[in-house]
Amino acid sequence: MEKQKFTKMALLFLSFSSLIAISRGIVSNRIGINYGHLGNNLPSPARSIELLGNMSVGRVKLYDADHDILNLLSGKDIEVAITVANDEISGIAANQHLADQWVYEHVLAHYPSTRIRFLLVGHEVFSSISTPADLQIARDLVPAIRRIKSTIKAQGIRNIKIGTPLAMDMMETTFPPSNGSFKPEVREFMGPLLRYLNGTKSFFFVDVYPYITWFESQVWNQTAINLDFALLRSGNESYTDPKTGLVYTNLLDQMLDSVVYAMAKLGYNDVMLAIGETGWPHEGESGANRENAAEYNNNLVRKMSAVPTIGTPARPGEVIPTFIFSMYDENQKYGPATERHWGLLNPDGSPVYEVNITSGV
Ligand SMILES: *[C@@H]1O[C@H](CO)[C@@H](O)[C@H](O)[C@H]1NC(C)=O
Ligand SMILES: *[C@@H]1O[C@H](CO)[C@@H](O)[C@H](O)[C@H]1NC(C)=O
Ligand SMILES: *[C@@H]1O[C@H](CO)[C@@H](O)[C@H](O)[C@H]1NC(C)=O
Ligand SMILES: *[C@@H]1O[C@H](CO)[C@@H](O)[C@H](O)[C@H]1NC(C)=O
Ligand SMILES: *[C@@H]1O[C@H](CO)[C@@H](O)[C@H](O)[C@H]1NC(C)=O
Ligand SMILES: *[C@@H]1O[C@H](CO)[C@@H](O)[C@H](O)[C@H]1NC(C)=O
Repeated sequence: MEKQKFTKMALLFLSFSSLIAISRGIVSNRIGINYGHLGNNLPSPARSIELLGNMSVGRVKLYDADHDILNLLSGKDIEVAITVANDEISGIAANQHLADQWVYEHVLAHYPSTRIRFLLVGHEVFSSISTPADLQIARDLVPAIRRIKSTIKAQGIRNIKIGTPLAMDMMETTFPPSNGSFKPEVREFMGPLLRYLNGTKSFFFVDVYPYITWFESQVWNQTAINLDFALLRSGNESYTDPKTGLVYTNLLDQMLDSVVYAMAKLGYNDVMLAIGETGWPHEGESGANRENAAEYNNNLVRKMSAVPTIGTPARPGEVIPTFIFSMYDENQKYGPATERHWGLLNPDGSPVYEVNITSGV
């Protein structure tokens, strides 16, 4: 009974939000999830796609463009983001034929029955510029994006946006939000990227983790950030940016707007934002537990799928496509334990904690 009622409400909500999306002529505000599979204990792709359906996920982001997974998503009411691997970027940048081949293999073989809507070139390519090869990939990013765009355009495809997800370590300063600026060493790459995104009305994808900023504020023992503020818990905690006078009630908005102001400094005032990854770990270091993870993700869903759309203080009412990190814990990822505990689902497909993906309003 309960379940039926919930499904009905979810359906109602979904049709309402799709209507909004159509009337605004832009993207929907249905919540997405990252489906990474760096684990040796995870459900099969077929079972995973079924689980996505059961969770009423609106979008899924893949860190690759796996043929089987894209086949399984065919005919599903789920928008898909696919990714070109970092080590494919330089080849594609140098050779239109390789761009054509990539698009034929990974897009045209599945589109339009698989609703590919975002094509992401690389993953956080400005985050690890330590070798000459990394530097080359950073330089080749926009040329590769342009080649892929040229193939997509030649095919007459208009509803796939091309972009690249970047991590917040691209920022020199994020606080106050109005003071946001990119690191000097990435500015030479940002200009061409923003020119492309602005010219094609695409999204600036940011991987943004209030957890990490909150955690570091504890470790460095600076002015520690209030946990409620980081968890998107609506309380009485707020911050007024001294320059803009905008009032912030959560850390996520501050971080997003710092990117808005960093772009504005380079002359780009209206490149739209998307969140490639965000989430909260349910196990690991301090603050990483199920209660906090459930709080953050449920608040996030509520905020990002609200009708009418909320946006951020600097971008009121803007739809910000959002992908939660992540579907599963991935036991083959490197790094500290926290890195492997961001999943919403256990290996057997049961929820780690309850998240209502459709509980928007
Ligand atoms: C999805 O939900 C249906 C209906 O509740 C259920 O029968 C099925 O087992 C679920 N699928 C998975 C993979 O859990
Ligand atoms: C803004 O950021 C710069 C560094 O980029 C810093 O020196 C300055 O103090 C910041 N301004 C404010 C008001 O915090
Ligand atoms: C961004 O694109 C708009 C057209 O949509 C254009 O008018 C504007 O000049 C562009 N901004 C920059 C900095 O190139
Ligand atoms: C952190 O700050 C508190 C009070 O401001 C101080 O007592 C404590 O020693 C500091 N810890 C470290 C590791 O600096
Ligand atoms: C914020 O809330 C706390 C308790 O919830 C209360 O003690 C405090 O006075 C409030 N502060 C403001 C500025 O309203
Ligand atoms: C999720 O939705 C169900 C059914 O409407 C409700 O019982 C539950 O409390 C919700 N959970 C959260 C965390 O909002």
